Amino acid sequence: MIYERGKSSISLKIADITTLECDCIVNAANKTLLGGGGVDGAIHRAAGPGLLQECYYLHGCNTGEAKITKGYQLKAKWVIHTVGPIYSGREEDSFMLQNCYWNSLNLAKEYSIHSLAFPAISTGAYGYPLREANYISLSSILKWLQENQDYEMHVILVCFNERFYEEYQKSFQKIVLE
Ligand code: APR
Repeated sequence: MIYERGKSSISLKIADITTLECDCIVNAANKTLLGGGGVDGAIHRAAGPGLLQECYYLHGCNTGEAKITKGYQLKAKWVIHTVGPIYSGREEDSFMLQNCYWNSLNLAKEYSIHSLAFPAISTGAYGYPLREANYISLSSILKWLQENQDYEMHVILVCFNERFYEEYQKSFQKIVLE
């Protein structure tokens, strides 16, 4: 499924994010940036030891912020590491999750990245309810594309399974048809 907006687009894809050949993939990391489980673990395994070496020099990352490294043995040239909120139900959670997408997109633009794949940040170990998280990610990405119409950006929302894909599709229809 793909949604065109000007010269940019948002597409949904069921995949293991480490296999994608886009310019950059986004890692749902933790504040240490020194690896973990879930997509963080998968990206570090696929990228090889060079990624962790470079991450040591980043001195961590605050929630909602984003930092960039090379992709090493990944097909993607770059990895943007962002730290999602650990879901607590507070209003601040949605603000922090929006920032993850917003700051990752800004950083990607700084590096002339034109295809960027996001996992569903915070919806795994960090417990963010999927429907709420999808609404936030889609709204944040659409707002960014709206404010950066002069910049060609192809965003891929990577779903690790069918359920995620279906949930994203519902959120898409809800927001786009709003
Ligand atoms: N490709 C795409 N998506 C994936 C992959 C993969 N290889 N592996 C997991 N996912 C999906 C999960 O299904 C979930 O929807 O990524 C989403 C985020 O889940 P987590 O990886 O658990 O990330 P998050 O919820 O943000 O928690 C981050 O978990 O792995 C640790 O070090 C990480 O402490 C940090 C925390």
